[in-house]
Parts: sequence; structure tokens; C-alpha cells
Amino acid sequence: MMRTPFEVPMDGLPDRVTIYEVGPRDGLQNESAIVPAGVKAEFLARLAEAGLTTIEATSFVHPKWVPQLADAEELLTRMERVPGVRYPVLVPNERGLDRALDHGVTDIAIFGSATETFARRNLNRSVDGSIEMFTPVVARALENGLDVRAYLSMCFGDPWEGPVPVEQVVRHGRRLLDLGCSQLSLGDTIGVGTPGHVTALLAAFAEAGVGPERLAVHFHDTYGQALANTLSALRAGVTVVDASTGGIGGCPFAKSATGNLATEDLVWMLSGLGVETGVDLESLVATSVWLAGELGRPSPSRVVQALAAESPGRRNVTQVPAEVPPAVEEE
Ligand code: HMG
Ligand code: MG
Repeated sequence: MMRTPFEVPMDGLPDRVTIYEVGPRDGLQNESAIVPAGVKAEFLARLAEAGLTTIEATSFVHPKWVPQLADAEELLTRMERVPGVRYPVLVPNERGLDRALDHGVTDIAIFGSATETFARRNLNRSVDGSIEMFTPVVARALENGLDVRAYLSMCFGDPWEGPVPVEQVVRHGRRLLDLGCSQLSLGDTIGVGTPGHVTALLAAFAEAGVGPERLAVHFHDTYGQALANTLSALRAGVTVVDASTGGIGGCPFAKSATGNLATEDLVWMLSGLGVETGVDLESLVATSVWLAGELGRPSPSRVVQALAAESPGRRNVTQVPAEVPPAVEEE
């Protein structure tokens, strides 16, 4: 039996948290080599099998901007869709929406920026220009019965502009919600946030009329703060947390964006707190061990490393075995 944390509940937390899994998109978009669509399809199937119910599958962005996800059409054609599981995709513009609609997508996510510099680097537009780009996307998606989530990046700090004032984040976040998005995910793209900053940002949103039921949090673990920041967000009433299985990921357009909060680290903490997620930790760890073999490098997740090392008969993820052929194709 795999080790599990001793359960000791804590006051002021939700009973249940929905994990919004971003590994196949945010994780794989940052791999230096291209992962074959068959491996991506298996990754999606394993995540659903582990009990995740929202799994961001890929992006319909410009294939030259993110070649790692240029196989979005192929993936959507060959992947298995498990009933009850949602598979959102990133869509920046109308061209991306057309591609998504052609492939039966029901959930999309637009992705804005709290800073001008990142808007230009990630979307080739100003913040105003990106809102103009998103407006018809959201309108048409809603007309077609799709659900639209919005991300806001650089909510805590920006590698070019430094600390980002909470008022600026709230202003830009509200603009995205006002387009008609059902949820706003607050991205700490470079992982510089700390727990008090999270509390202050969520309080500023509440003050502006945006309660935690409309918000999600998206932490990167660059400075080891992702779990502490998550706990802060849960205490403020947030119940949707983004995470990436194995802790893979980052953003190719943001200097110093390293891995996302690992789903396994999140599930370990939440089960210790007695908060329901519906996710089976053992199968997630097995998935990360498998993925590490496919990617040819170990998972950065502390929980994966600890559990994979102690499980009898389980391959140690910190040592990618020589017999596993690298499934990644060199460009
Ligand atoms: P652009 O170059 O300004 O595009 O890029 P354009 O509108 O000028 O169009 C130029 C050409 O690209 C046209 O073709 C379009 O049809 C084509 P032409 O007429 O010249 O032959 N084109 C497309 N083709 C396929 N799919 C499309 C598409 N759009 C245009 N969707 C664009 C603008 C937004 C497309 C580009 O900047 C882009 O793709 N950016 C995406 C960057 C990205 O994916 N970043 C990573 C995700 S964000 C993130 O990681 C943060 C997050 O995780 C949260 C956090 O951590 O903070 C979400
Ligand atoms: Mg991210």
C-alpha cells in the first residue's frame, strides 16, 4: 500500500476542491522536444482514469508560436473522451475558435495578461488589443453553447515589469470576466507570489464584486511557494485549483517560468487536510513515472519522488531507466 498522509482537518477550508489539470497543455507546451500525439492521448486517458474531471487537452494557438501543440487536431481526433470529463482547450482568436469548433470542443479558455509586456510577448498585442481579439471569440463561443474560462497571467509579478499592483490585476481580470467568461484563473506565471499577496489579491477582487466562486488559482512553483499560496487561496474561499501532473510545465514566452504546482503535491496536501478531490494519488504517481520515461527526465514533484522511491516494485522516477526508449522526436 502506498503511503498516505495522516488526515488532520483544518478550520476554514472547503469540503471539496476541483482540480483543473493543465499538464497536457501547460506542461507539454514547454517541453523542448515534441511529444507524439499518441503519448499525449495516453496521458489524457491516464489522467481521466485517475479521477480528474477537468483536463486541459491542448491549445489552438498559432502552430509556429507553440510547435509542441501543433498536433491539436490530430490529438482531438484520436483521444478518448471519457463521459463526465471536460477537456478544455486554449483559444486566443477566431481562427483558433474555428479550429476548436471543427473538432467538437465544448470548453475553451482565453488567456489575457495583467501586464503590457507579457501581452505583447505572448499574444503579439497590447492588453487593449488582446481584449479586442477575445471579444468576438467569447461572443461566438457562447452563441455555440461553449463554456469559456479566462486566464490572467502575471498576476503577482512580471519578469520585465516587476511587481504587479493588485488594482491593475483586478482591473484587467474584470474586463475578461465582463466578456462573459464563467471563471477567471489567476496565474502566477513566474511563481513569485507569497501567501499574504494571494490573500490581498483575493480580497481586492472581493471588494470589486468578484467573489471566490468565480475565481481559480494557477500557481507555478518556481520559488517553492505554490502549496502555501494554494492554502491561502482555499482559506479565502477558492475551490478550483490548477495543477499539472508531475509538476511539468512553464511558459515559453516568460523568462523564469518553471513548473506548475504538481497535482500530486496538491492531492497529498488536500488529503491530509481531509478535503475531497476524487483523485487517486497512486494512479497519478504511476502516470508521472510513466511520463518521466516518455520525456526522458524525472518529475520535479516532491511527492512523486518520495512515493515512487518508497513503493516496492515501482520504478524510481528519479532514475529514468535506460530500457525506456525516448518517445520524444528530435526536431
Ligand atoms: P499573430 O502573429 O499576431 O497572428 O499571432 P495574426 O492574427 O497576425 O495572424 C497571422 C497568421 O497566423 C495568419 O495566417 C493567421 O491565419 C494565422 P496567414 O493569413 O498569414 O496565412 N493564425 C493562426 N493559425 C492557426 N491557429 C491560430 C491562428 N491565429 C492566427 N489560432 C497569436 C497572434 C495570438 C495567434 C499568437 O500570438 C499565438 O498563437 N500566441 C499563443 C502563445 C501561447 O500559446 N502561449 C502559451 C500559453 S499562455 C500561458 O502559458 C499562461 C497560462 O498558463 C497561465 C499562466 O501561467 O499565467 C495560461
Ligand atoms: Mg501556466
